[in-house]
Amino acid sequence: MIKRLFSFIFILIISFSSSQTDFTLPIIPLPNKCKIIKGEFLLSKKTTIFYNNKILLNHINYFNDFLKKNNQFELLKTNDSSKINTVILQCINEPSQINESYQLIINSEKIIIKGDTAGIFYALQSIIQLINNQTSIKIKLPNLIINDEPAFKWRGMHLDVSRHFFPISFIKRYIDFLSLYKLNVFHWHLTDDQGWRIEIKKYPKLTEVGAWRKGTMFGKYSDSNYDTINYGGYYTQEEIKDVVAYAQKRQITILPEIEMPGHSQAAIASYPFLSCTGNPQEVAKGWGVFEDVFCTKDSTLQFLKDVLDEVMVLFPGKYIHIGGDECPKTRWKKCLQCQSIIKKENLKDEHELQSYFIKRIEKYINSKGRQIIGWDEILEGGLAPNATVMSWRGEDGGIAAAKDNHSVVMSPGTYCYFDHYQASPSDEPLAIGGFTSLEKVYSYNPIPKELNDEQKKYVIGAQANVWTEYILNEKQVEYMSMPRMAALSEVLWTHLENKNETNFLVRLQKHFTLLDNLKVNYAKALYQINYKIRNDINNQKLFIELYANSTLGDIYYSLDGSDPNINSIKYNAPIELNGQVNIKSALYKNDQIKGKIASRQYQINKATNKKIIFKTPPSKYYNSGGYFTLLNGESAKLPRINDQWLGWSGDDINLIVNLDKNQQISHLEIGFLKEELNWIYLPTEVFLYLSEDGINFTEIDKLKSNQIKEDRVAEFNFKKQKAMYAKIIAKNYGKILSGKPGAGENSWLFCDEIKIN
Ligand code: ACM
Ligand code: ZN
Repeated sequence: MIKRLFSFIFILIISFSSSQTDFTLPIIPLPNKCKIIKGEFLLSKKTTIFYNNKILLNHINYFNDFLKKNNQFELLKTNDSSKINTVILQCINEPSQINESYQLIINSEKIIIKGDTAGIFYALQSIIQLINNQTSIKIKLPNLIINDEPAFKWRGMHLDVSRHFFPISFIKRYIDFLSLYKLNVFHWHLTDDQGWRIEIKKYPKLTEVGAWRKGTMFGKYSDSNYDTINYGGYYTQEEIKDVVAYAQKRQITILPEIEMPGHSQAAIASYPFLSCTGNPQEVAKGWGVFEDVFCTKDSTLQFLKDVLDEVMVLFPGKYIHIGGDECPKTRWKKCLQCQSIIKKENLKDEHELQSYFIKRIEKYINSKGRQIIGWDEILEGGLAPNATVMSWRGEDGGIAAAKDNHSVVMSPGTYCYFDHYQASPSDEPLAIGGFTSLEKVYSYNPIPKELNDEQKKYVIGAQANVWTEYILNEKQVEYMSMPRMAALSEVLWTHLENKNETNFLVRLQKHFTLLDNLKVNYAKALYQINYKIRNDINNQKLFIELYANSTLGDIYYSLDGSDPNINSIKYNAPIELNGQVNIKSALYKNDQIKGKIASRQYQINKATNKKIIFKTPPSKYYNSGGYFTLLNGESAKLPRINDQWLGWSGDDINLIVNLDKNQQISHLEIGFLKEELNWIYLPTEVFLYLSEDGINFTEIDKLKSNQIKEDRVAEFNFKKQKAMYAKIIAKNYGKILSGKPGAGENSWLFCDEIKIN
């Protein structure tokens, strides 16, 4: 018995010391093994630093730069490792050392750091995070032992500098953020339709012409507003060399992206011969996908080889990103030169032509000892032999590539697109759309369940992308990427079994003081109140639920239009919706408001919470909100959040709303979405029929697409009459016309709230 009890206690001790969920020091990403011990180390100007390898001088300078800025002192170097109050850096370059791993021991006398070059740098980053908001000349560090290593070897962040341009000073600041979180790849998206941003000596017009556009789209995409301000900028080769060296010192490899064959309008504007038609082009002012792309002829390939020659000299990393995404084939279909290649090479279609083109580029890059990486479209028409795939249209491309023994970097939109909203669009600055909350990022596991143990090894990591169509300045890049970057870092560094969202949020809130010190414009979306409307089990009543992570604070709300505070109503149960309501809410912790006030209005109508049937069900891809979303008393907001819409591909909408009983009505409206860039079209016609018995329907009216109000709402006003059933038929636009994105494909038809009164 005693023996059993002893082993039980022993197991308890082991499991406590290996549990990371009680680790609440502000280190992000969470170290994989850490034990806190009583006592502390005093770091001050009396502390010295010892190193066993000259290579570490760079790290010492980096650490001292931080201390000088934050604490107005620096550590003096010593060659006596036995001295008390010393930081000892021991570089271990042995094969047994796991890449990028480190051990950090802090005791009252010494700080001892062991690891490879990268590992030692990361240990110093852990210390910088522990220093956190201590800005005095005497820093207390808790005694501890950390044994740490990354879960994934590719830990990336991307930044698009084409849609909006960011100066070198900001690129360096962004790289600093990456290094703070032990991320090791900066994917620099240097070329696109809206601007070419890298100096190429052999082709000076790329930056004389291609780096500048004569105006820029602003506001919502559907509004089609453009300014006429000359906009642009580029990086000289000298600046790029400087940034590459800056990143190297921070253990970061820069992955340059030169987009091809699509997203190439800025290059074509500079050198029109690069396209199929040779027609003059402007650098694009608006967003989207453009049809003038690189021709697959030899002269364009030679141009790209020349460009890549200069790129490969500037960027010493193993990989070159060649884009490969969103390349319309319209021009290739009509181009004599492209078609003659298809014939000569015996290719099936333009997808195989794209594959042929990428394979030729790959062969060239491989001949220089480098590897290509491309967006998952490079799978279409056959993957180049040694290519690595960056999976962005979900994980399917990554899964297919891993099954085919190709390396994969995961970057699926739902988890890794930091241009998406991070809280409800009603409470956020305009973004491109989508919804990728901090919690969603944190929940990501880059290894798909579909892969077996052997295939899983091909997933080398993940990265998040920051596309900047709607990100106009540096402050906004910070807002969109922080603190989601912190969550991503934990996805990539911390082993799955050690991850814990609650614990992350505790550490993150402490870590905010460090971001405050660095004057980072980070988002506080995690404190934002979410609203959800739902019906009860019998579909009789409607409720509005307010929710936030309860560990972050309590929700207070008002119904009278006043700003909520801690004397308002404390939320503890869903609010019943009868008629009309205006709710304002906010999160409070220790009497302090967190985040922003969020207000919403709801109004029920005769269709709210009634039954609906469809002749053809919506697509499984656009039905996540369920049928209730059409009759829940809340119109979908723009830009689109998918769970507020139902969508049909190629089909008409044919639905009947059952109002439960015959009643007098004179108004019906239904909302549609127009997003032609994404193949979503308004219906060509909308018919309304009413019936008292559900069998005999009378046509009441029909509307053409140009009668749809503000491109959005089909509104029927008719003579007051009795009805229990309303049938709506909305005609799908059909196949997309040539010259438009998605030409020849089925168009989509999306609808949201139906209101009847
Ligand atoms: C992409 O987002 N077009 C890769
Ligand atoms: Zn061509």
